[in-house]
Amino acid sequence: MTIARKQGRFITLEGSEGGGKSSLMTVVSGYLRDQGQEVVKTREPGGTSLGEQVRTALLDPEMTEIHPKAELGLMFAARVQHVETLIKPALRAGKWVVCDRFTDSTYAYQGGGRGIAAEVIEHFESIFLGEFKPDLTLLLDLPVDVGLKRASAEGVPDRFEREQTVFFERVRRTFLLRASQTDRIHLIDALQAQNKVAEDALEIIRTTCFGDHEGLS
Ligand SMILES: Nc1ncnc2c1ncn2[C@@H]1O[C@H](COP(=O)(O)OP(=O)(O)O)[C@@H](O)[C@H]1O
Ligand SMILES: [Mg+2]
Repeated sequence: MTIARKQGRFITLEGSEGGGKSSLMTVVSGYLRDQGQEVVKTREPGGTSLGEQVRTALLDPEMTEIHPKAELGLMFAARVQHVETLIKPALRAGKWVVCDRFTDSTYAYQGGGRGIAAEVIEHFESIFLGEFKPDLTLLLDLPVDVGLKRASAEGVPDRFEREQTVFFERVRRTFLLRASQTDRIHLIDALQAQNKVAEDALEIIRTTCFGDHEGLS
């Protein structure tokens, strides 16, 4: 008798600049490996060679003339390449995929930030991804000024990081709104010390992914 190999899970890390996504990626992937899972770490925009080229263009501070709808289209072009050629095959092979930003960031930045209607983004999401969504999303939330201060210590600001505080306030509000609308998104207070953020994140993963009700069998 053959036993079907269990499909892996897809976890995304979200939030605005300086929330601690990159730092949490290391913690989460290390934890999952300790649980015996194979883990793929990836990011958006990016994750494939096409996606990384799109990322370079979209983050380039010299690219001052990108129309918001072109930005949206490029995000989804990179995303569909990522999902179809990397994420889905990895999940089918039983691996867990942890991704730094995904579609929730598009709602927050191109929607909340740039002002594209959520319905337009939903339309793109449905055309490009169908019903495909993360199994779990960890949203690192913190006040905009604290996040920007943390991020600015990281080096030269990219095209998004050059936006004004009001832009990031809209981004944050959109993330929080989305978190209030679905159980998939779990809010984490990113103002806490890094070890407490990590503890909260792992507790959420333990209960949602390794809990009694849907334990790995
Ligand atoms: N909870 C925290 N408290 C204080 N500093 C933090 C915390 N989390 C991350 N940092 C620091 O803030 C900066 C940005 O963190 P990073 O993980 O790169 O955030 P992101 O990837 O979300 O932009 C880094 O210098 C990191 O060490
Ligand atoms: Mg980062």
